[in-house]
Amino acid sequence: MAPYDLDQMKARMVLRPLDLSLDKVGDEAQPPALTVSEGQKYPIEERLDIVTKNSVYPVIIGQDVLSRIGMYMVDLLHYEPSRHNVLILTDEKVAPYYVSPVEESLQKAGFRFLTVVRPAGEQEKRLAAVEEIISHMIRYGLDRSGVLLALGGGVIGDLGGFIAATYMRGIDFIQIPTTVLAHDSSVGGKVAVNHPLGKNMIGAFYPPRAVFYDMLTFRTLPSREICAGYAELIKHALISGERFYTELIRSREVLLRLCDQRVEEADWPILTHLLSRGIAVKKAVVERDERETSGEREALNIGHTVAHALELTLGYGTLLHGEAVAIGLVVETELALRLGLADASFLAQLETDLTSLRLPTKVPPDVTTEALVQAMLADKKNRHASIHFALLRAPGRVLRVGLAPDDVRTLLEK
Ligand SMILES: NC(=O)c1ccc[n+]([C@@H]2O[C@H](COP(=O)([O-])OP(=O)(O)OC[C@H]3O[C@@H](n4cnc5c(N)ncnc54)[C@H](O)[C@@H]3O)[C@@H](O)[C@H]2O)c1
Ligand SMILES: [Zn+2]
Repeated sequence: MAPYDLDQMKARMVLRPLDLSLDKVGDEAQPPALTVSEGQKYPIEERLDIVTKNSVYPVIIGQDVLSRIGMYMVDLLHYEPSRHNVLILTDEKVAPYYVSPVEESLQKAGFRFLTVVRPAGEQEKRLAAVEEIISHMIRYGLDRSGVLLALGGGVIGDLGGFIAATYMRGIDFIQIPTTVLAHDSSVGGKVAVNHPLGKNMIGAFYPPRAVFYDMLTFRTLPSREICAGYAELIKHALISGERFYTELIRSREVLLRLCDQRVEEADWPILTHLLSRGIAVKKAVVERDERETSGEREALNIGHTVAHALELTLGYGTLLHGEAVAIGLVVETELALRLGLADASFLAQLETDLTSLRLPTKVPPDVTTEALVQAMLADKKNRHASIHFALLRAPGRVLRVGLAPDDVRTLLEK
């Protein structure tokens, strides 16, 4: 490995701090419990409202939310069952558990609906699937007043949202996340499908009308998926700052209990609190920079330049998205360390914490540096032939950094 000149590299790099000061986000009192019809309350629900220039939508977090979807659609979102047909989009692993309660609640509220069940997995996030699903929608006669319910993880959410954004130039959609990871993907309005040459390359900013998050769906989520979902929660904590990060890592036992599928011992209040706090961080960032125009939203991309490159290099679905993010967080912090932007003790702590939550931290041995760099060059964040990263200096301190591809190669090989 040839020696490299760090000062020259630094002179070439474009650097901008993203000091978002989110340390206290999620501390403030939640809005009061929902009052739907007269005098009726749902005390177990937590609610956050996402308010941006282009949209306002509620995120309802609780237990047994699925069986109230129809009622929420009428009482909270003011849909008229006789005027709005519904398409439930879900996948083959989610359907056996959760389609029935959603269908029953729609039936009870008087909605007409069609359920479309797709294969599970990242490979489904592609244009061919969009066309097939739209064929069902046209045959069913879903018109512009139709509402798409995306019932599943981030794949169904991203795919369903993309379809809603484009079908007849846009119909309403509602996110009904069923994975830990989807606390992230269901909020913020980014929807997309992949292209063989790049992850999320075909997409839109298209906010949902609401997010209905039922924690009880985690009871059937495989261990590996639960741990992978924690990677995005760790990301939110790291963006927020030391307090949330420390709180999250201290709750490790609670998090691992869910991973071990010891459902009867699950601490739902703590899990709900941590996920709400993660969503509150996403809300704060999205409300400042919904369409990634000021650059603040790029803070949400920590770990993701490397994560997306890994997913592309290994083939979509080989690593779970959250696993790729965990590796990305470590590799990108190594880059920050080599650039003199982060310190070794933070990197070591991060690796220990991710490992303790059973997340991978090393690039698989069959992935070469060259392959990673080539894949990074396809990233959407890049400008003017440099590769862009949101790098962590420490919890709460994110830097946007643009590096020449040769410098990235050199740093990765170091
Ligand atoms: N739009 C955004 O802002 C954003 C943010 C983060 C991630 N993402 C995207 O999200 C996707 C990953 O989402 P994911 O991790 O939720 O993956 P996923 O949707 O593939 O779900 C994971 C797996 O678990 C199964 N599953 C889902 N819920 C279940 C349940 N309750 N019980 C049993 N099985 C269940 C699914 O069928 C799938 O096999 C990636 O495509 C990523 O790019 C998008
Ligand atoms: Zn992600």
